[in-house]
Amino acid sequence: MQPESLDLTILGIETSCDETGVALYCTRRGLLAHTLHSQVALHARYGGVVPELASRDHVRHLLPLILKTLDEARITRKELNAIAYTAGPGLAGALLVGASLAQSAAYALRIPALGIHHLEAHLLSPLLTTPRPTFPFIALLVSGGHSQLMRVGGIDDYTLLGETLDDAAGEAFDKTAKLLGLGYPGGPALERLALQGRAGRFRLPRPMLNSADLNMSFSGLKTAVLTEYRSRSMSDADKADLAAEFQEAVAEVLASKALAAVEASDTRQLVVAGGVGANRRIRAVLDTRATPRGIAVAYPPLEFCTDNGAMVAFAAALRLGTSGKASCGAGPGSFSVRPRWDLEQAGTLAAL
Ligand code: KG4
Ligand code: ZN
Repeated sequence: MQPESLDLTILGIETSCDETGVALYCTRRGLLAHTLHSQVALHARYGGVVPELASRDHVRHLLPLILKTLDEARITRKELNAIAYTAGPGLAGALLVGASLAQSAAYALRIPALGIHHLEAHLLSPLLTTPRPTFPFIALLVSGGHSQLMRVGGIDDYTLLGETLDDAAGEAFDKTAKLLGLGYPGGPALERLALQGRAGRFRLPRPMLNSADLNMSFSGLKTAVLTEYRSRSMSDADKADLAAEFQEAVAEVLASKALAAVEASDTRQLVVAGGVGANRRIRAVLDTRATPRGIAVAYPPLEFCTDNGAMVAFAAALRLGTSGKASCGAGPGSFSVRPRWDLEQAGTLAAL
C-alpha cells in the first residue's frame, strides 16, 4: 500500500545523537514542517559529543521544538495520528529523551507511538526527493557510526552487502579533521578546507579498493594522514592539500564500492544516505562515474542527509502504509530504546 492512500499526520522525533529534530509528515500532503536544533556549539569546545550534555540539551529543546513545529504547520495536537521517534541505535540517554516524550504524548493523545530504526530512516530518506526512487535500490549509508552498502527491496527487506571493517567514513572524517586542528563536526570542516587544496600532491592509500568484496576500511587512511602530518612541518596550504587528498581517497573508495554493488545487483539505482552523503566531492565523484554506466544516483536534500526529524516521520509513514495499521510501536505507556540495533531487525521493536 502506498502511504498516500492513507491520510495520517505523523509527528517525527529524532534525538539519537547531537541534533534535536522534529517534523510533521502527512501521508497525503507530504512534509508539512520540520525544525532542527543543532548541539554543535554545545559540544564544540570538547571536540566531540558529550553524551550527558546531549541528553540534557534534548530535554531542554525537544518540547519547545515540537510546539513550534505544530505551530508552523498549523496542526493541533488533536490532529496527530501517530508519533514516531528514533528508538536506536544511538546514545542511550539521548534516545530515552525522545522515546519518553513520544510515548507519553502518544499515551495522552491515545494514538500509537512508533519506535523507528535510525539507519532505516536514513536509508529511506532519499525517497523524500522527487522523483522518488523506486524499490529495489542499492543504498550507500555513510554516517558517523556506519558505512554500509545495502540492497533495499522494500520496507523490512534490507540485505547487507558490505560494510566498513573498522572506522565509519564519517568517523574517519571527524578524526582526520581533529588531527588537522579543525573544529567539530569534522566532516563539513574538512570539506571546507579541502576546497582550498589540491588532491594528488600527497599520496594516500585507497584502502581495500581492489579487495574482491564490498567491504571497506578507513582507519588506515586516518593513520596515513597522521604519518604524513608528522613527517614535516605543515603550512596551511599543505594541510589543505592533505585534506583534499584524504577526501579524494574516501570518495574514490566509496564510489568504487557502491558502483560495484550496483553492477552485481538486480537494479541500476543507487541512493546515498547519511551525513557523509552531504559531501559535495563525494557526490561529484559518484555522479561522474555512475552516469556513463547508466546508473542513477539519488541523494536526499542536504538538510535530510544529516540527522533530522523528517526522515523519522517519513519512515513511520512508509511503515504504516505497508502494514496498513497504525500500530507497530511498543505497548502503550511503556518505552524501550536500543542503543545497539541491527537494521535487519528493524521491524522488531514491537516485540520489546
Ligand atoms: O548521519 P549523521 O548526521 O549522524 C549519524 O547518524 O552519524 O552523520 C554525521 C557524520 C559525521 O561524522 C560528520 O562529520 C559527517 O557525517 N558529515 C560529513 C559532512 N557533513 C557531515 N562528512 C563529510 N563531508 C560533509 N560535508
Ligand atoms: Zn544519523
